[in-house]
Amino acid sequence: MPASRASPSILQAERVSVRFGGLRAVDDVSFRLECGKILGLIGPNGAGKTTLFNALTGYVPLSSGRVTYLGSDVSRSPPFERTRKGMGRTFQIERPFEGLTVLENVLIPAFLRFPGRGDAEAWAGECLERVGLADRRKQLSSELNLARRRRLELAKALAVKPRVLFLDEIMAGLNPPALTEMIEFVLSLTLDGTAILMVEHIMQAVVELSDHIIVLAFGKKIAEGTPEVVTSSPLVIEAYLGGVDDA
Ligand SMILES: Nc1ncnc2c1ncn2[C@@H]1O[C@H](COP(=O)(O)OP(=O)(O)OP(=O)(O)O)[C@@H](O)[C@H]1O
Ligand SMILES: [Mg+2]
Repeated sequence: MPASRASPSILQAERVSVRFGGLRAVDDVSFRLECGKILGLIGPNGAGKTTLFNALTGYVPLSSGRVTYLGSDVSRSPPFERTRKGMGRTFQIERPFEGLTVLENVLIPAFLRFPGRGDAEAWAGECLERVGLADRRKQLSSELNLARRRRLELAKALAVKPRVLFLDEIMAGLNPPALTEMIEFVLSLTLDGTAILMVEHIMQAVVELSDHIIVLAFGKKIAEGTPEVVTSSPLVIEAYLGGVDDA
C-alpha cells in the first residue's frame, strides 16, 4: 500500500517471525490494521494464529520482524506496556480469577485507567453493562457458564479502553442465539474506531465481520483478501481440508 494513504494505521506487523527451537510457528507475516476495521485471522489448528497474537501483544518474543502500534515500535515492549498503550486482548483459554467476583475480575484491568477505587468500580460496572453482565457482578466468576465467561473476557479487555482489540476464538462453543448476539456485539465495538484482530474458526462469524482476512498455514500467510475472495480460494480450501486429519 502507498505510504501516503490517508487512512491511519493502528497496528502494523512487518515480517514477523516466531520460532520455537526448530519450529517456525509464525513465519514472515506482515499486515496492516486500520481504525475501525476488523481483520480476521484464520487457518487450520496449529497454523500459528495464537502465537501471532502472543507475539503482537508481547507474550512471546519475536524472533525477527517489527510490530508498530500507533506509529511507535513496540516490538520489545512487555505485555503490560502494550496493554497500557491500548492493546487489549482476550485469551483462547479464558483465565478469570475464579475466587473473585465478576466485578472484581474487571476491576483489575480497570485500575489501569482509573487508579481510584470508586472511579475504577464505576468503569468496571460500565464495561459489564456493555457485555450484558451487569446483573452478575456479585457472582463468583467460576459460577458463570461458557457464554458468560466469554463475555467476562471481553469486559476485561474493554476495561483497558483498547484502541486495538485482539479476540482469540471468542465465538467457539456458543449456541446459535449467543453466536448471533456476539457477532452483533463485536461489530458494535468498531463504531468508535476501535480496530479488531480476530482469530476465529466459525466461518459465519469471520465472513460476516471481517473487512479483510489473512489465512495462515504452517506459520505462513498463504492468502489474504476480502471474505469473498478468501473463502473461494482453492489454496485456502486445500489448507483447511489438509488440516482435517489433525483435528
Ligand atoms: N510455547 C510454545 N513452545 C513450543 N511450541 C509452541 C508453543 N506455542 C505454540 N507452539 C506450537 O506452535 C504451533 C502454532 O501453535 P498455535 O497455538 O499458535 O496455533 P493456532 O493456529 O492458534 O492453533 P488452534 O487453531 O488450534 O488454536 C503449533 O505447532 C504449536 O504446537
Ligand atoms: Mg489458537
